[in-house]
Amino acid sequence: MSAEKELLKRKEEHLALCSSDAVAFKGVTSGFEHYSFLHHAITEVDIEAIDLRSDFLGHTVDYPFFISCMTGGTDDTVNINLKLAGAARELNIPLGLGSQRYALGTDRFNDHFKRIREAAGTVPLIGNIGAAQIVEPGIIEKLDELIRNSDINSLAIHLNPAQELFQHGGETNFQGLLTAIANIKKNLDIPLIVKETGAGIDDICADELFWVRVDMVDVAGAGGTSWSGVEILRNGGDDSHDFWDWGLPTTYCIRRVHDLRWQYKFKLAASGGINSGMEAAKALALGADFTASARRVLQELNTGGQTGVVKMVQDWFDTVRKVMFLTGSPTLEEFRMGKIKKKTELI
Ligand SMILES: Cc1cc2nc3c(=O)[nH]c(=O)nc-3n(C[C@H](O)[C@H](O)[C@H](O)COP(=O)(O)O)c2cc1C
Repeated sequence: MSAEKELLKRKEEHLALCSSDAVAFKGVTSGFEHYSFLHHAITEVDIEAIDLRSDFLGHTVDYPFFISCMTGGTDDTVNINLKLAGAARELNIPLGLGSQRYALGTDRFNDHFKRIREAAGTVPLIGNIGAAQIVEPGIIEKLDELIRNSDINSLAIHLNPAQELFQHGGETNFQGLLTAIANIKKNLDIPLIVKETGAGIDDICADELFWVRVDMVDVAGAGGTSWSGVEILRNGGDDSHDFWDWGLPTTYCIRRVHDLRWQYKFKLAASGGINSGMEAAKALALGADFTASARRVLQELNTGGQTGVVKMVQDWFDTVRKVMFLTGSPTLEEFRMGKIKKKTELI
């Protein structure tokens, strides 16, 4: 099978496996269930006046939320992206594209990118490339071309060592990764996001990323989709595998990275197991600027279509608004300041 066919087949299998809950973490949770909001009886908030608009790397969007990176726009998956782009446009939120590896060094997919941009209107599109690709020689020129071809507004680099480790023929040599990220930031004029894919980015890794001037970290922590799990299933294994639950819970990552704010200026995105409005609210209250979701959005798209995705996100942020009202938080800035506590502290 050609390398391109292999990539397409893998993506199809990923989409099929992620359409169910079979790939969820089993013993590890994202951690949100350990937190409660602080009810504020003398709230002076007008719920109708709560403004959720947020700055996404230079673009004002209507919610502090984006659809996380899933598919790139190949022949088979462009339709998924077109529907997601339509939903993102209705909601006026950013849309993350999945890995664009297949489009590096070729113009063949420009038409797909054009259609995705048309469907998305002016919402920010997040491009996507893997750690395994950016350590290859000549990557700056190829990425420069990809950015122009796909009309993206920011570029996300995904870190997925746990997935690669269990993928048949996966990449297991990441020497030079931080230098490669630094070079991209230095040489390409586009906001840079670094994300995990479900195993989490903690303060130690985030410190290195902010040191090389990465603009946004998306922690993509454990508790949602297990990407070691996805590959273990593809290899015929099951969820009793030692590494199924590998990763740092999303709440731990948010708190630890948020603590770096005194040292660096950055945007923090929280994903990894954000499957409800309450979880999105908790992520924001713990310090995230943005929340994001992948598998839950895909599942909603499969069952409710574009309209279902729009309604789901609106419902989630209706919940966020209610929580802000009940915690006495007129703005997202105030909501991030001490409105949530570990349940163990509330007894
Ligand atoms: C079907 C599917 C495909 C994905 N493909 C990519 C990808 O190409 N690039 C990437 O950075 N992350 C990819 N991800 C990972 C998500 O962006 C996200 O980080 C991860 O699934 C955790 O979020 P969740 O718990 O909301 O699913 C994919 C996720 C899903 C569900």
